[in-house]
Amino acid sequence: MEPWASSPATTPQVERKFHVLVGVTGSVAALKLPLLVSRLLDIPGLEVIVVTTERAKHFYSPQDVPVSLYSDTDEWEMWKRRSDPVLHIELRRWADLMLVAPLDANTLGKVASGICDNLLTCVIRAWDHNKPLLFCPAMNTAMWEHPVTAQQVGQLKAFGYTEVPCVAKKLVCGDQGLGAMAEVETIVEKVKEVFSQHHGIQQS
Ligand SMILES: Cc1cc2nc3c(=O)[nH]c(=O)nc-3n(C[C@H](O)[C@H](O)[C@H](O)COP(=O)(O)O)c2cc1C
Repeated sequence: MEPWASSPATTPQVERKFHVLVGVTGSVAALKLPLLVSRLLDIPGLEVIVVTTERAKHFYSPQDVPVSLYSDTDEWEMWKRRSDPVLHIELRRWADLMLVAPLDANTLGKVASGICDNLLTCVIRAWDHNKPLLFCPAMNTAMWEHPVTAQQVGQLKAFGYTEVPCVAKKLVCGDQGLGAMAEVETIVEKVKEVFSQHHGIQQS
């Protein structure tokens, strides 16, 4: 059975784990996906599924990611007839939290304007705004400094999503400056914060 079918988000929280859906896009920071997933799995009570863009696949090996990983092919292969599940809807139902790390300039632009032409952007387009969504931008400094970036990041915040800001460092391309994805530890701490808030709400 697919992991998202075993315990939908409607199952009471006391009986199941907190569901984190990690979205990964084609930034070089996707190299950190295996580390990010393993650090998330260290948090007791968390279950993780990954949704990847095609470009992101270039930066990691699926065998280094010890959770279910879905991409566009799965979405289209899963649906043959009316009774079949629509993967992006099943995933948005399953998730308690969406974490997009890294969020590259391309997908940032798509999300800001509502474009949904792959599995990841469809999940985000169909996102339940009562649930948290964290995004971790990652791009070259020149891209980061383009005026459209601040507009688009502002748009995502206006949707109610939470930015985990990028940091300044020497980037893989050799440039120095803002645009690097936040450290994995920073991202994991943010997830823990959301998880504990959610846990508190469930128990009150
Ligand atoms: C080696 C390499 C590294 C890249 N790193 C980044 C990056 O850090 N941030 C970014 O916004 N785009 C980066 N790109 C460009 C994206 O991969 C490109 O815009 C792609 O279309 C993104 O597709 P996606 O958003 O569907 O994953 C990189 C491209 C290459 C070839």
